[in-house]
Parts: sequence; structure tokens; C-alpha cells
Amino acid sequence: MNDIKIITTEDGSHSLYRPDLNETYHSFHGALQESVHVFINMGLKYYFEKCQKSTARILEVGFGTGLNALLTEEYAANNEVEIYFETLETVPLGSDIYEKLNYAQKMAKQEIFTAMHSAAWNWEEKITDFFSIKKIEGSLIDYQNNDLFDLIYFDAFAPSKQPELWSKSIMGKMHSLLNSGGIITTYCAKGQLKRDLRDVGFEVSTLPGAPGKKEMVRGQKK
Ligand SMILES: C[S@@+](CC[C@H](N)C(=O)[O-])C[C@H]1O[C@@H](n2cnc3c(N)ncnc32)[C@H](O)[C@@H]1O
Repeated sequence: MNDIKIITTEDGSHSLYRPDLNETYHSFHGALQESVHVFINMGLKYYFEKCQKSTARILEVGFGTGLNALLTEEYAANNEVEIYFETLETVPLGSDIYEKLNYAQKMAKQEIFTAMHSAAWNWEEKITDFFSIKKIEGSLIDYQNNDLFDLIYFDAFAPSKQPELWSKSIMGKMHSLLNSGGIITTYCAKGQLKRDLRDVGFEVSTLPGAPGKKEMVRGQKK
């Protein structure tokens, strides 16, 4: 995919635009602030405050720019918790794109960001004492794992662009990949998604969305 374009969102952080889908990787109102809100504050922070543990296994749908991974590493380092981060991606970015993204510079984490992007695919890599990553090149549709997770960052493109990733059967698959009490968090707050999450066994919370968006959703496995 060589026509992906870098854009600047309203909080000054970069995002990407896919012309073939007419879709951005993040909210135009602010990529960084959206990721912090949806995945870190409403997901990761909530999980650690609730469970009082010092480790977590996270699955991300859509590694993309690596922004969620970088924010998660920052949380792990600041809070001295050990995180294993497994992330799926069908369209890995080339260095011509990720080297130009401004997240690492904004967060003073250039070395870590480069290490994450240059880590081998389909192989677990220890980035720091608190953070390991396994990037899997492949689709969520084909993904299987018998080891369960504590948290899922569901960050696929919007349901209107990728309906096959937001189906009830995929939500059932997400449910089966979580430990009991595990959490799924996403920027999407569509009624159908909430009904499907409930039907497959999640307790669903509708939460305030990231700046510029009304709502988001978090599900907890009962
Ligand atoms: C909304 S973007 C978010 C990416 C990333 N979390 C970020 O912050 O940059 C969605 C990502 O999901 C990836 N993706 C699309 N289809 C996928 C699939 N079937 N399985 C796994 N990832 C997929 C896209 O290539 C893209 O990188």
C-alpha cells in the first residue's frame, strides 16, 4: 500500500489516511488524545485499577502506526507493570512512513518507537523490562490463540469500511480470547455493536467519547 498519506490532526499529532478506503487511522480531532482516552484511560488504566495486578496480556486489532503500543509501553514504564502486547496487522507500514510520524518525538520515546517498528514480525521481542511485543502479520479473521488475554484494544477501521470485522461472530471470538473479567475497548459506540457484545456475553458500558466524539464502548467479560 504505497499511497498512504500522513496527515496532522487537531491536537498536532499525526495520523494516516488511506485513499482507497477514504478512511483515517484516528479521529481527525486528535489522534494522540483519542488513543490516550479510548485505550489507555478507559482500557488499560481502568483494568489495572480494578484488578490490582502487576501484569497484563493485551491483544490489539490493528498495529498501524504503533501509537497504542507506544502509549502502552509508556504506561508500563511509569507504573512498573509488566505488559505482553500482541498485535495484528494486515498492512504493515514501511519505514518511509513510520519514521516520519511525530508521536515518539512528542513523547520523547524515539528509541522505543523505532525498536517496536523494527521488531521482527511473528516473533516475541522484549523492548524493555516492562514491555514485550509480538506483531503478527495477518488478519483477525484467521487469528487463533489458545492463550487468553486480559485486555483487547479493538482498533479496526470503522464498521462502514470493514463490516466483516465488527460482526457478532467476531465479537464472540473476542469474548473467547479474553480471561474472565477481561476487557474490550473501542472508539465505536454503534447500537448494533453494543447489542452484539451483550449477546455474546459482555457487560457493556457506554462511556464519554474522546474529544469530538460523543460516546465509546467498553465491554467486560462476565
Ligand atoms: C483504525 S487503524 C488503527 C491502527 C493503530 N491502532 C494505530 O493507532 O495506528 C486500523 C488498523 O487495522 C489494520 N487492519 C485492517 N484490517 C485488519 C485485519 N483484518 N486484521 C488485522 N488488522 C487489520 C489496518 O491496516 C490499520 O492499521
